[in-house]
Amino acid sequence: MLIVMTYKVHAVNKKETDEALQEKTSLIQSWLYAAIIFILIAIITSIYFMVKGTIYEGHLMEWLNIVVRVMHITFGIAWIGASFYFVFLENALNRTENVRDELAGNLWAVHGGGFYYLEKYKGAPKTLPKHLHWFKYEAYFTWVSGFALLLIIYYFNASAMMIDTNVMKLSTAQAIVISIGSFIAAWCMYDLLCKSPLRKHTLLFVLTGAVLLIGFAWFYSYVFSGRAAFIHFGAMIGSLMVANVFFVIIPSQKAMVNAAKKGVTPDPQRGKNALFRSIHNNYFTLPVLFVMVSNHFPSTFGNKYQWIVLAAISIGSAGIKHWLNLREQGRLSVWIMPASVIVLLAVAYATAPQASTTKCKEVSFAEVNAIIQQRCIGCHSSQPTDNIYTAPPNGVKYDTPQEIVAKKDLIMQRVVVTKTMPQNNKTNMTPEERDVIRCWIEQGAIIK
Ligand code: HEC
Repeated sequence: MLIVMTYKVHAVNKKETDEALQEKTSLIQSWLYAAIIFILIAIITSIYFMVKGTIYEGHLMEWLNIVVRVMHITFGIAWIGASFYFVFLENALNRTENVRDELAGNLWAVHGGGFYYLEKYKGAPKTLPKHLHWFKYEAYFTWVSGFALLLIIYYFNASAMMIDTNVMKLSTAQAIVISIGSFIAAWCMYDLLCKSPLRKHTLLFVLTGAVLLIGFAWFYSYVFSGRAAFIHFGAMIGSLMVANVFFVIIPSQKAMVNAAKKGVTPDPQRGKNALFRSIHNNYFTLPVLFVMVSNHFPSTFGNKYQWIVLAAISIGSAGIKHWLNLREQGRLSVWIMPASVIVLLAVAYATAPQASTTKCKEVSFAEVNAIIQQRCIGCHSSQPTDNIYTAPPNGVKYDTPQEIVAKKDLIMQRVVVTKTMPQNNKTNMTPEERDVIRCWIEQGAIIK
C-alpha cells in the first residue's frame, strides 16, 4: 500500500516536472526567436547605414522588399488559410448523425491522397492530449512582416510614398507618427466598441463599425497619397485582426486549456468574446486582401474620391464573404450576393474614364517628348536624376521615342485617366500637358 502511494506521488511529481520543463523550453525558445529577430534587424539596419547614399542603397531596399514581401504573403496565406479552414469545419460539421455524446460533431474529408476524420468536442476532452496544436504564430508573423514592409516601402521613403504635398504638407516624422498613431487609435476605438453595450445589437454594432472604418478611409485619404492611404487602411484592419488574436482569442484559448487541466469548466464569456472577434476577423479578410493588391490598380487609389471607392469595395467584398459564410452553413440568402456584386459593379462604373470634350489639335511627337523629358525622365530613365529613385521605377524608361510609344497605354492610364503619374505630381505636370499627351495617344501615338 505504501509503495503504491509513493509511486503515485512520484508519478504526479514527474508529470509536473515534465510540464514545467516543457514550459521552460518553450519560453527559452520564444526568447531565442526574439533575439534572432532583433539581431537580424540590427544587422540589416547597420548594412543600410553602410550603403546609404551609395548606388547600392536602392538595390538593398529592393531585396529587402522581395524577401519580406514573400515572407508576408506566405505567413498571410498560412494564417488566412487556417482561419478559412476552421470556419469551413465549423460550418460543415456533421452534428446529427452518429455523433458521440461528448462531441459537437465530426467530419470526413479526402485530401492529398488520404482520408481524414475529424471530431470536435463540445467542451474540453477528459484528458488533454500531450501535443495540442496552436494557430497563432501565423498571425503574429504576418503582422511583423507586414509592419517591416511598411517600414521598408513607406517609412524609409516617406517623402515619395506617403506624402503627397498636394494632399497635405507633412514631414517624414509627422507622417510616421500619424501612421503608427492611427493604428493604436483604431484598436482603442474598436476594442471599446466591442466591449460596449452595442455588441448586443448586431445591426447597430455593424453600422457603427462601418461608420468608424469609413471614417478611417476618409482620414487616410485626407493626409496621405492615394496609394499610401489604401495600404494604411489595410494595415490598420490587419492590425485589428492580429490584435484580436493576441489580446482576446489566444488568451481565451489559454484560459480554456488551463481550466481543462484543473478539471473546471472555463468561463463561457471568454469563449464568447473570442468567437465574437473571430467572426470580425473573418469579415475583414476579403477587404484586407483587396487592399494588399490595390497598389496594382491606380484606377482605384488614383480616383478623386478614393475613400468612397475604398469603402464601397470593402463593403462589397465583406458582403461576398457573408454570402459564402451563409452558403457553407447551408443557408442561402437571395439578395446578399447580387447586392454585393451591384456595389462592386457600381464602383467599376463610377471609376470609368471620362471622355474629354476638349477638341484636339494636331500634336507632334516633339511636343510630347519635351513634356516627357521635363516631367518624367527624372525617374523614368536608365540613369535617373531623382533624389529617391536610383533605378527606373518598374523598369519603365523613356530614353528613346520607341520606349515612349511602347508604353503608350500605360501612359494613358497613369497620366490621363488616373493622374497618378508623375508620382504625387512631384514634377508639377499641368492639366494642359496631360491633354497634349492624351491627344497624341488618341491620334495614334505616332513618332513624326
Ligand atoms: C518621382 C518619380 C517619378 C516621376 C517623375 C514619374 N514617375 Fe512614373 N513611376 C514612378 C514609380 C515609383 C512607379 C512605380 C510605382 C507605381 O506604379 O505607382 C512608376 C510607375 C509608372 C508607370 C507604371 C508602370 C507599370 O509597370 O505599371 C507608368 C506608366 C509611369 N510611371 C509613367 C510615368 C510618366 C508618363 C511620367 C511623366 C509624366 C512619370 N511616370 C513620372 C515614379 C515616377
